[in-house]
Amino acid sequence: MRLDKYLCHTLELSRRDVHRLLADKKITVNNQICMRKDTVINEEKDRIAYEGRELLYRFFHYIMLNKPQGVVCAVRDSKFPTINQIIGDHKNLHPIGRLDKDTEGLVIMTNNGSLTHALTNPNKDVAKTYLVHLKSPIEEDYSAQLEKGLDLYDGKGKPYRSKPAKLIRLEADKCLVEITEGKYHQVKKMFLKLGNEVIYLKRLAIGSICLDDKLEVGQFRSLTDQEINQLKGIG
Ligand code: URA
Repeated sequence: MRLDKYLCHTLELSRRDVHRLLADKKITVNNQICMRKDTVINEEKDRIAYEGRELLYRFFHYIMLNKPQGVVCAVRDSKFPTINQIIGDHKNLHPIGRLDKDTEGLVIMTNNGSLTHALTNPNKDVAKTYLVHLKSPIEEDYSAQLEKGLDLYDGKGKPYRSKPAKLIRLEADKCLVEITEGKYHQVKKMFLKLGNEVIYLKRLAIGSICLDDKLEVGQFRSLTDQEINQLKGIG
């Protein structure tokens, strides 16, 4: 692998920043200063150090973001701020499952495309937990209706029956909902079908990975090794 590519991945920096580090003689390969970005290294064997600190190779990155309302799950958008702007364009990460612009909460982002593919496979039944605030009080029969499944339309107007979902009532008009699909506007559509309206939606968990309650809205952090293993366990 080329040294600059290795450094971009390991240090989570842009190519331009990496080239500056090399020009500033901050990088050594096997204890020798290396300034050539096209040096080919063996990431398993060569010892690469930044300012004397040896680097551990990580090709894949995983972060959790507490997405604010008003931000779209896209790399670029002509009208609205994007999640990639929040985390910095250079990281080249994509979300594992999107949230609507007005939905807040947990978005996991990675450059591990095959894991994303596995986790977003509709047959995979990965549980997603949402905090839901409703316009009107929750009715007695909501749990049973969600459990039974509702007849809805997907983003392409194709009818489908939603898979069994769970509802836990928190207050008269607030609940937790767990779904195992990720269809277009699904939670909002489920409550519309029940004659109610979602006025606030926040994703709290994907599988066993919970949104870190220390992350303010708009903040993000890398997943811990344990969380990465949990994520791979789901996939
Ligand atoms: N369901 C919705 O309606 N919107 C989301 O953003 C996620 C789930």
